[in-house]
Parts: sequence; C-alpha cells; structure tokens
Amino acid sequence: MKLNIVTIDGPSASGKGSLSKNIAKHLDFNILDSGLLYRVYAYLFSISGNHEEIKKLISEQITFISDQDGINVFKDNNNITHELRTEKTAKTASQISALDITRKNLLNIQRDFYSGKGLVADGRDMGTVVFPDARLKIFLEASAEVRAKRRYLELQNRGQEVNMPDLIADIESRDFKDRTRTISPLIPAEDSIVIDSSEMSLEEVLSFTKKLTKKEFNK
Ligand code: DC
Repeated sequence: MKLNIVTIDGPSASGKGSLSKNIAKHLDFNILDSGLLYRVYAYLFSISGNHEEIKKLISEQITFISDQDGINVFKDNNNITHELRTEKTAKTASQISALDITRKNLLNIQRDFYSGKGLVADGRDMGTVVFPDARLKIFLEASAEVRAKRRYLELQNRGQEVNMPDLIADIESRDFKDRTRTISPLIPAEDSIVIDSSEMSLEEVLSFTKKLTKKEFNK
C-alpha cells in the first residue's frame, strides 16, 4: 500500500529544503528534514563518540520544533540549530552518514515522523530506503556551481565566513562520497521523477511539483 508521503531526495543545496517546506505547506503535511537528523547525530558524535548513547540521546533529549522560518532543534532547552548548520557539522555528518550503524540507528527515528498525517521527507535515501512506498518521489538535481552559489549566499546571510573555491571543492567531494558509498548511496529511486533545477527558479520547480501533487493527492 502506498503511503501519503512525498520524498524529495537530492544532493546538498539542490533546493530540496525550500521545495519541501513549500510542498508541506501546500499539502498541509508534516516535514522530515533527514539531513538535519544526520547533523544532530554528527553533533552528538563529536561530544560522545558512542553510537548507542547517541541513539538514546536523540530520543530522550532532542526535540524538533517547526515554525514558518523552518525547523529548530533543541538539546534539552538549548537551541543548537545554528551549530548544526555549520560546514564543520556538515563534514562530520557526511563522514558518519557512510556508516551502517548510523543509518540503522536513524532508520526508525525517521519512519516515526510519519504519523497518520501526510509527510514530506527530504534527504538522500527517502525514496529508496526509508520510505520505498511513498506515493510521490522526486529527485532534485542541480550543477555543483549553481549549488555552491546558493550555499554561498545562504552562509553569507547567516554571517558565516565563506570562500567560493573552497565551497565548490567541499560540495564536489561530499557529493562524490554521498553518491559512491556502498550503503544508501545518493541515487534516484527507479520510480522517482528527476528534476534538474540548474536553470529553474524555485517558483518554476514549485509549480512543476504542484502539478505532480495535484495528480497524486488531488491538491
Ligand atoms: O542535507 P544536509 O546537507 O543537511 O545533509 C547532511 C549530511 O547528511 C550529508 O552529507 C548527507 C547526509 N545525509 C544522508 O546521508 N542521508 C540523508 N537521508 C540525509 C542526509
């Protein structure tokens, strides 16, 4: 049986986050930003280094609170979202996400985000591994240069120091690792619709995706 889920997979800075947020709002679905979950795991890994303890900490101490500006992550009462969004955490997340134990520990945590209400799941393996029975699967691509430019503006807006050549190199090396790892590599699901957004605005991607949701969810 197909689940009321839209999966949006693709490489970093391909525009998945904005598309997911907009589609979740349009369909009135919940949202799972699985990359953020991997970043939480990476953040806790830098503190503890023990996978069993991390799994426990995520279920006992971490809360995700969504509002119109996005998702905020709290460890107990401390908002750790800013630290999760740094390039340093992204690098650790890329490394630990290649480990089988990390992916196993996060599998059910991710599936628990689907709770009867529909879900938009944003990540790398949402359509292939986590929600293979999702009703609609999208794979969002964009060239490394376009993605580096988007990430540059995003980090600059947050007041972080960035350098364009370093950013392109980082994105390319992370992509290579994500696409070639043996466990859950970043590849489109066979039944996914691939959108290359290199030459498209968010509005264009959004209106194309809304045509797909109209067909699948009548909305
Ligand atoms: O989307 P992001 O940049 O926040 O993701 C951070 C890292 O987590 C990225 O290197 C890939 C990894 N990741 C993953 O392996 N599987 C997912 N479903 C989501 C993210």
